[in-house]
Amino acid sequence: MEKFVIEGGAPLRGTVRISGAKNAALPIMAATMLADEPVTLKGVPRLRDVATLAGILAELGVKVERMGDLLRIETVNPDLIDAPYHMVRKMRASICVLGPLLAKRRRARVALPGGCVIGVRPVDLHIKGLRALGADIEIRHGDIIAKADRLKGAEVYLGGAFGSTVLGTANLMCAGALAEGKTVIEGAACEPEVTDLGDFLNSAGACISGHGTPRIEIEGVSRLSGGEYEVIPDRVETGTFMIAAAATRGSIKIENARLDHLRAAVDKLQEIGVEVTPGGGAVHVSAASLPLPTDVVTLPYPGLPTDLQAQFMALLATADGISVITEKIFPDRFMHVAELNRMGASIRKEGASAVVRGVGELSGAPVMASDLRASAALVLAGLAARGITEINRIYHIDRGYEHIEEKLIRLGASIQRVDV
Ligand code: EPU
Repeated sequence: MEKFVIEGGAPLRGTVRISGAKNAALPIMAATMLADEPVTLKGVPRLRDVATLAGILAELGVKVERMGDLLRIETVNPDLIDAPYHMVRKMRASICVLGPLLAKRRRARVALPGGCVIGVRPVDLHIKGLRALGADIEIRHGDIIAKADRLKGAEVYLGGAFGSTVLGTANLMCAGALAEGKTVIEGAACEPEVTDLGDFLNSAGACISGHGTPRIEIEGVSRLSGGEYEVIPDRVETGTFMIAAAATRGSIKIENARLDHLRAAVDKLQEIGVEVTPGGGAVHVSAASLPLPTDVVTLPYPGLPTDLQAQFMALLATADGISVITEKIFPDRFMHVAELNRMGASIRKEGASAVVRGVGELSGAPVMASDLRASAALVLAGLAARGITEINRIYHIDRGYEHIEEKLIRLGASIQRVDV
């Protein structure tokens, strides 16, 4: 087990380069199972979640080879259809193999992912969508067992109580890509990672339009080819570094960032006094004073992403006044509140909101990471705090941030990975 030891107080300064997007890479890796030829993906970050999915793909007869930030992916045994629980339980996103398996291999047995610390996380919308295309799906002994001798295009509404579903939309796009006839997804997720998956599928010969909007139209094709594709930069990593600069009152340049994927976060940062300026193919972020208090509401894209909620909380914990943060995607995603309070924050959870009374300065403390984005928030809090912060269970952060401590050290942070 490893922990981070952070000595806070140093303003971040310098340049950081953003890696490829985890949440784009994962469904695209799964979607390569639809292709009849090898696929090379560029910009795939070295992350534990990527390695976990590569392990699941290996169990499904797919060879994944890494060369730097390239992955070469080729199906070698298309008869395997089983994604077992001991793999799936490591990562809920494993559900993204369901659509590709069903569409290409006509059968799938994928362990039903459980809940996790950010909430119950049902997959009813994935199942509803695939059933609408003619799949026969049952849940038996904890597995989703799906079959479809042929999938037939249909109109499906994918909205749910908390908006649409990102990976549910991805599964249905993959199924629709090889289904007979036309599939229309209404209430589709509009996240840039969904758009990226659609662009990848189209690059391999699919016929998809409207991805990135709530109405996606898919004309099924009989086969997909291989080829090369580069995944988009990670907008959550970008947002995390922006907030890190703000939290430490630093000034950094961020390369390989897509500001057009982060409008709501940038708008919020500017509102609370952070300077965000694009220029020369990069983004400059700086903050000179305490953030102003504000209200933050997470929403489906293009709203402010739930994956930046914890980081905003760490920042607003030091604001000059009271902020309210409301979570509209995962109403229970507040495990970081108690840990931030250990660092002197004053945060009270009220249903799906948190009332954050800014305290000006946090103080270092031993804390425990509970999930990926909560860990990122604790790192930011530690960088901003006075004194030493020790963050335990940092394996969570390795799921989603490539070389986080190297990147932070290059920006002048004092952060060390230590064996416990
Ligand atoms: N939902 C349902 N039924 C479903 C599916 C989802 O009710 O069948 C609900 C969820 O419980 C939640 C909401 O719909 O309240 C949105 O969930 P969604 O399905 O969109 O989440 P996801 O696709 O499982 C992806 C990201 C998450 C990110 C969410 C929301 C990947 C691999 N994961 O999850 O990323 O928080 O979309 O934007 O793309 C992370 O990277 O830390 C992370 C958790």
